Amino acid sequence: MKEIVMKKADDWRKVYELYSRLSNEDLYLRFFHYYRPSEEEVRKLVTEQGDHITIIAEDEEGKVIAEGTIYDDGEFSLVVDPNFRMRGIGTAMVEKLIELGKEMGLKKIRFYTLPENIPMIKIGKKLGFKLTFTSDEVYGEKPLIVESVTSYVSS
Ligand code: COA
Repeated sequence: MKEIVMKKADDWRKVYELYSRLSNEDLYLRFFHYYRPSEEEVRKLVTEQGDHITIIAEDEEGKVIAEGTIYDDGEFSLVVDPNFRMRGIGTAMVEKLIELGKEMGLKKIRFYTLPENIPMIKIGKKLGFKLTFTSDEVYGEKPLIVESVTSYVSS
């Protein structure tokens, strides 16, 4: 397999190109509503990271093949280029987003998806998210900081 590089997003045009290759359904799953971001919105997402961190995966030619964003309220979302799915990239991106959540000092991180999104549900289960299913959505939540444990050592 070609080498995949995962890093903080630095070139909004390449992220825009990734979104341009996505179907409406993929964009719906990424943003949780029907939405095709404009160039200006993608530029802001990548260059104005005040309340979020956006990461990307690049193939060895520098093409952006996945994007993931975590916000300072703990919510994250991601998308992998359809031609690069089922190779573990989605799982690796969520692992990286968990690491970033810890670095951001978040107590928990969370995602929303649709009940038919099997790959995202698999990733959530595999990486220890507590999943709550309703007819309309699946909510995944993972605590990041273990609360202090009561000490039973007697004095
Ligand atoms: N049907 C069934 N299982 C699938 C699958 C499919 N179409 N695609 C992937 N999987 C499985 C993989 O085999 C793997 O299973 P395992 O953990 O048992 O090995 C698991 O799902 C994760 O696969 P992985 O290769 O790590 O993920 P990916 O790179 O294919 O990306 C998504 C997963 C969800 C990010 C990708 O499908 C995507 O971009 N979807 C559209 C946007 C989206 O849904 N974003 C999530 C928003 S929270």
